[in-house]
Amino acid sequence: MERSIATRQDIPLLMSLLEIKGVSMQFFADGKEMVALQDINLNIEENEFVCFIGPSGCGKTTLLRIVAGLEEATEGTVTLDGDPIKGPGPERGMVFQEYSLFPWRTVIDNIVFGLELKGIPSAERLAQGRQYLKMVELERFEARYPHELSGGMKQRVAIARALVNHPKALLMDEPFGALDAQTRNIMQSELLRIWQEERKTVVFVTHSVDEAIYLADRIVIMSARPGRIKDIIDIPLARPRNRTSSEVNLIRDRILCDLRSEIATC
Ligand SMILES: Nc1ncnc2c1ncn2[C@@H]1O[C@H](COP(=O)(O)OP(=O)(O)OP(=O)(O)O)[C@@H](O)[C@H]1O
Ligand SMILES: [Mg+2]
Repeated sequence: MERSIATRQDIPLLMSLLEIKGVSMQFFADGKEMVALQDINLNIEENEFVCFIGPSGCGKTTLLRIVAGLEEATEGTVTLDGDPIKGPGPERGMVFQEYSLFPWRTVIDNIVFGLELKGIPSAERLAQGRQYLKMVELERFEARYPHELSGGMKQRVAIARALVNHPKALLMDEPFGALDAQTRNIMQSELLRIWQEERKTVVFVTHSVDEAIYLADRIVIMSARPGRIKDIIDIPLARPRNRTSSEVNLIRDRILCDLRSEIATC
């Protein structure tokens, strides 16, 4: 009888940058078990811009924290370039909703924090930090402290601070959620410009359907608790996108229908 022998052809040739396989997450609170995420499977490609959207409490932040290595999944694996994620690392930059800058550090000292941890000499880290300060158009604010900045400016600093470490993936949890509508639109355009310049993979959580359609290559819609992937929508529209075109309106209707059907059939 012939035995099958694994050959090179059996090894998949194409590996995605991020591979989320069978990820589930349970929390224990007040003596009860709560399933926050259930069997999440998703591959995210290099340079892809993926947005997650879903009802509050469906596990978006939990999933992002698992990818960041800040939380360990109860089941399943996440790999980056084939390597299992076991903790935080500079190849995954995180930007949070709440302004997470160090208040006692100046703008430039916030940006170069990760370079300091790596032991990069001061002149070199200043040069690298200034490059990203320029990218987010805050050169004039180099010596200011976070309390002297607007919300949009603080998030620009947070983006520069993540990018200076040359991450492969930028993980963003409602980064523009606290901004006014006008600033938010500007920040979305700025982020797309930076994404196009730096060619990063972006995983972006939002509650705004319009924001997701403006930004994403793919939108992942999650169901209410326990969080599962309900739908994945490709957005093949060229950028910059017209926020009110008929194509955008059709996609918006589909997403809103998906989200509404979590509580009723539409
Ligand atoms: N450390 C924790 N311990 C216990 N329960 C938790 C913990 N972290 C999150 N949860 C629970 O897991 C569920 C998912 O939380 P998560 O913050 O991921 O939701 P979310 O989709 O990001 O919500 P939102 O849109 O409101 O930010 C929630 O019910 C939350 O209460
Ligand atoms: Mg959240």
